[in-house]
Amino acid sequence: MEKMIKKIFKNLFQITGMQDLILESIDNKLALALEKELAQIKHDLTMPKYFYHSPIDYSTETYTPEYEPSIMMEGEEIPVPPPRCRPGYSPDDDQNYIEWGKYDRDNIYSIIEKHYGIHDNMSILDFGCSSGRVLRHFYPQLKENNWNLYGTDIQAFLVEWMRRNFPPEFKIMCGCTFPHLPFEDSSLDVIYGISVFTHTKYLWDLWLAEFKRVLKPGGICIQTVQCETAWKFYHENKDLDWVKSSYPSTMLDKPELDSDFFFYGDGFISQTFYREDVIKKYWGRYMEVLELMPPPPKFSFQNWIVLKNTV
Ligand SMILES: C[S@@+](CC[C@H](N)C(=O)[O-])C[C@H]1O[C@@H](n2cnc3c(N)ncnc32)[C@H](O)[C@@H]1O
Repeated sequence: MEKMIKKIFKNLFQITGMQDLILESIDNKLALALEKELAQIKHDLTMPKYFYHSPIDYSTETYTPEYEPSIMMEGEEIPVPPPRCRPGYSPDDDQNYIEWGKYDRDNIYSIIEKHYGIHDNMSILDFGCSSGRVLRHFYPQLKENNWNLYGTDIQAFLVEWMRRNFPPEFKIMCGCTFPHLPFEDSSLDVIYGISVFTHTKYLWDLWLAEFKRVLKPGGICIQTVQCETAWKFYHENKDLDWVKSSYPSTMLDKPELDSDFFFYGDGFISQTFYREDVIKKYWGRYMEVLELMPPPPKFSFQNWIVLKNTV
């Protein structure tokens, strides 16, 4: 194809009498343009618009991935992931990474305590566990109360890091964007997901139905979601670079969420917002909504929704 394009250019410039000079610069420009175009085609072919999971790489030959060394911190039994394996969560601050995960874990624990009770032998799934930022802090329950701890994430690179660094009792699996979980009916006590449905633009309803299937009767589902508070936060911080680059100006310019919901983006890099009354009504079709909690005082502006599988 490159030869053909060059031939066309040659023919074109024969009429100018300056072909050598122009061709020299055209060749470079052409090569660059072609390279860019081919890279885009390759990207589009290997990364379909709606992909099922994010593989370790996009190569035909996949070898064990290389990771920067894990971080050993005092008081932490499980190694802390290197910055590249903590997408979006304090890559530059180990202490904050640990505190944030523990804070979310404590919140989850107190919701379980309130709405379900704490028992031995419980089965818990961290849906969208990333590299185990929150799940790691349930290790005491695994050891002392014999909890079965499961984690799924669609990013195989992070799951692989956990497989290598987490104790083998943690059951870690690469998940997919298609609503399916590798659990039997009525087998889990709790499913929680921190900032996962905030990025679940597609098939959120089928996911809730799948959660209901695998939850025991009375089992609970805890998810964080973006509602009016999150919308307001982004509007007020619309000039920050990371906000500008992640959200469209059509959204950021509006001070209020003025539709029932707003979904933006593509695949798992999407963003979702629901009005509080709407999420309760919509999600309440699949499981009973026990609570829609305001964002906790620290770390986040996301609401927490608690659902119960009342069969
Ligand atoms: C914003 S991150 C939050 C990660 C983690 N929950 C935490 O709080 O540290 C969202 C995560 O959800 C994962 N994810 C998105 N859709 C998923 C799905 N269908 N199944 C499993 N993981 C998913 C992403 O790969 C990503 O790691």
